Amino acid sequence: MEISFLLNGETRTARIDRPTVSVLDWLRAEGLTGTKEGCNEGDCGACTVMVSDADGTRALNACILMLPQIAGKALRTVEGIAAPDGHLHPVQRAMVAHHGSQCGFCTPGFVVSMATAHLNGRTDDDDVLAGNLCRCTGYAPIIRACAAARAEPAPDWVDDRGRALPEATRGTETAFRPRNSDELAAWYLTHPSATLIAGATDVALWVTKQLRDLPEVAFLNGCSDMQTIVDAPDEVCMGAGVTIAALRKWAQGPHPALAAMLRRFASEQVRQSATIGGNIANGSPIGDGPPALIAMGARLVLRRGDVRRVMPLEDFFIDYRKQDRQPSEFVESILLPKSAPGLACYKLSKRFDQDISAVCGCFNLTVEGDTITAARVAFGGMAGTPKRASAFEAAITGIPFTEAAIAAALPAMTQDFAPMSDMRASAAYRMQTAQAMALRYIRERRGEAVSVLEVSA
Ligand code: FAD
Ligand code: FES
Ligand code: FES
Repeated sequence: MEISFLLNGETRTARIDRPTVSVLDWLRAEGLTGTKEGCNEGDCGACTVMVSDADGTRALNACILMLPQIAGKALRTVEGIAAPDGHLHPVQRAMVAHHGSQCGFCTPGFVVSMATAHLNGRTDDDDVLAGNLCRCTGYAPIIRACAAARAEPAPDWVDDRGRALPEATRGTETAFRPRNSDELAAWYLTHPSATLIAGATDVALWVTKQLRDLPEVAFLNGCSDMQTIVDAPDEVCMGAGVTIAALRKWAQGPHPALAAMLRRFASEQVRQSATIGGNIANGSPIGDGPPALIAMGARLVLRRGDVRRVMPLEDFFIDYRKQDRQPSEFVESILLPKSAPGLACYKLSKRFDQDISAVCGCFNLTVEGDTITAARVAFGGMAGTPKRASAFEAAITGIPFTEAAIAAALPAMTQDFAPMSDMRASAAYRMQTAQAMALRYIRERRGEAVSVLEVSA
């Protein structure tokens, strides 16, 4: 298979035998060893690279990015952050001046994340760098370097946005790169056991950690019609290929509670690659997207060939890792309500940033006068699938919207869930914290500060 892309400004064509080879492995085999391998699972950011196309420039983790995903795009590594004559980028000079590096292993990844943010005019340094882990310097000097570099403009040499990009190949019969959902639908009919790869933030780990061979694959990131958010009169149609970063940006207007939760979905690098369709199709019981979308009343559009079916999202999740999806059927889009003013999403994890939920509770209550007239409540981390709290919903519908009334209904949750104990939380803690989230909801709606970002001792 041949893949063409710009590498630090120069056109390159890579010939690969294995379509699932990571950008990190390919770069290092080519001698570009500035991009480091730390965790090889998307957690540490040591392998951060800059990827540009018509949609802009973003920082991605090269260890969970497969080479065919960058076909027709511009890839810039840490070797291409300084000018060809060796002149340092402003973020590199600032890192030196502010002592932002000690052992230096994490530094290439930080520098690429910082240069990408600098190019995009981002000033939310804590968010931008939450996916870059440093064990020795501490973050204060690095954050000071980000602020200092802002005084200087982004140098031309690092900006690939205006450069002519090589054509993206269609791939091969067993490593296909469809250009739209029609091509995907037709190909998938004749390759029902193929693995679909959207952002690869889950699938890449099957390769890097489980050493799985994926004989037939389709890379979905060329299907631009699946990356749109269409505002229809009654609802919003979100393509399955919309990234978590794009979903978060869009949600800031109509669904701020969802946007606030997605800030804590993985890290900048992962959010820029991960898609909402992949988050749903993966069927993880601890994914953050499904509980929020179920609480909102989202419906799922599945497509097989030219046949589509629509179902409430909660019905898609049948059992642990078992979804209602037929061979050759894929997630095409998600239908969302235009507003959900009663929505609140609570993600509980051991760390604030870049951590998987122990429990994710999402509440969407309609209150008329002083009475709860409708309730949609869904949890991740409480069962083998993302799941609605049906007994609890029934127990709170029609009762006064008071803390005492909700507290009296909390035991109903034990009919909905029998959570498990694992390394993230014990069963008892999960149940206790899920019930506490319901009380947090009423306090938040009354205007009390409930976020760790607002509460101080
Ligand atoms: P992929 O990896 O491409 O695919 C995932 C699965 O979905 C595969 O089975 C694939 O075949 C299938 N698939 C993809 N698209 C479709 C489609 N359109 N139709 C049918 N099947 C499809 N998740 C969270 O929820 N919260 C987190 O905080 C979080 N943190 C993470 C941190 C790290 C470091 C990493 C590596 C992952 C994290 N994840 C998290 C998991 C992952 O990022 C999400 O599940 C993500 O949304 C998956 O999307 P993707 O596009 O990368 O899917
Ligand atoms: Fe850790 Fe890639 S090596 S994120
Ligand atoms: Fe050593 Fe960051 S400088 S890990």
